[in-house]
Amino acid sequence: MSSYIIEGGKRLEGEVNISGSKNASLPIIAASILNNNVTKLYNVPNIHDTQITLEILKILGCKIGKKSDKIVIDSRNMKKTEIPEDLMRQMRSSVVLAGAIIGRFKEAKISYPGGCDIGARPIDLHLKGFRKLGIEVEEESGFIKCKCEKIIGNTIHLDFPSVGATENIMLASALAEGETIINNAAMEPEIEDLQNMLNRMGAKITGAGTNIIKIVGVKSLKEVSYTVMPDRIEAGTFLCAGAITEGKIKLNNVNVEHIAPVINKLEECGCKIEILKNSVKLEAPKKLKNVDIKTMPYPGFPTDMQSVFATVLTVSKGTSIVVENIFENRYKYTNELKRMGAKITVEGKTAVIKGVKRLNGTKVTSTDLRGGAALVLAGLQAKGKTTVNNIEYILRGYENLDKKLSMIGAKIKQI
Ligand code: EPZ
Repeated sequence: MSSYIIEGGKRLEGEVNISGSKNASLPIIAASILNNNVTKLYNVPNIHDTQITLEILKILGCKIGKKSDKIVIDSRNMKKTEIPEDLMRQMRSSVVLAGAIIGRFKEAKISYPGGCDIGARPIDLHLKGFRKLGIEVEEESGFIKCKCEKIIGNTIHLDFPSVGATENIMLASALAEGETIINNAAMEPEIEDLQNMLNRMGAKITGAGTNIIKIVGVKSLKEVSYTVMPDRIEAGTFLCAGAITEGKIKLNNVNVEHIAPVINKLEECGCKIEILKNSVKLEAPKKLKNVDIKTMPYPGFPTDMQSVFATVLTVSKGTSIVVENIFENRYKYTNELKRMGAKITVEGKTAVIKGVKRLNGTKVTSTDLRGGAALVLAGLQAKGKTTVNNIEYILRGYENLDKKLSMIGAKIKQI
């Protein structure tokens, strides 16, 4: 297991280029299965989760080429429709490949993606959606087998605006017969990115970004080139890194609209924010003010920013209240923060945070991707040295995090 060693107390100053979005890349890579042709993707971050997804496509028979900033996927020779169990276990979001495999081959076999450290993360809404499309879904001893003669468009109402379920239904219905409507669809920007890429391939999808998405099935999809949107969670993470170190930073290649909920809260904390076309500047105050956070589906405050923002609040003046409304177990990182001197009380969905002046460096262990990122930010502010262990979680979702932080003055190295 690798670790980060961080020497705290350095003010972050300078410019960072934000990478492409992990959570847009995964369904967009899956979509390359549908066109039975060549797909060229730009701005895909080179992180563990995209590497695993491409690995799975290779095992299914796709040809994968990587040039400097471009990934080329040729799905013409793809034959297999079963995702290997060990790779499925390594990354639960590979469940979104199922929708694409079924969309093209009318069958798929995956193992149950299993929960992870932030909650049970069931896929009942995905499977309910598949069944509404006329797909037979059999669940037996940890495996899920899907098959059908043809996919028939239908109206699907999601009990919860699930991002993954929305993406899976879009992928499974792009080549269906007839029209599919998703009611109570997720409105995250990654859904819009997937719609744009599929339409570039020749799909007929409208409504992404709203809670009603319409997919008119087409006969086939064609070759496509597409550039993935910037990663809004990486951008939010760096803004919080600037905030927690009394820093003055500029982020390039961001879509400012996507990070509005985070910018709004950072301004409430007392940060000065300047918005430029594809960039954003942050200047932090000497002392941050406390604010209250409630995570909600987009365009509410993103759950993926909960742990990172809570860390900023551990050294803000006063008491802050955080409510996590999306995942049932997304506070594990707080135990590690308490070992650094943070004053946090967690009760169910709510965390009460009393600001302290300074955290203390010590050995801490990542429990999940965004929880790990939170510990890195704590280390940037803490007195002395912090060792963050199990950074494999962090490497899943952040491209060159240590190098980017070092470029703006952090003392951090990976061992
Ligand atoms: C996506 O996960 C993201 N992952 C998550 O980011 C993000 O936190 C989440 O959306 C919410 O924005 C990817 O895009 C790869 P959901 P997903 O389905 O699709 C419940 C990160 O750190 N639910 O919107 O799994 C579920 O248990 C990751 O980058 C069901 O009950 O999220 C959860 O409580 C973490 N049944 C809630 O909905 C289902 O069938 C939101 O889940 C599906 C979901």
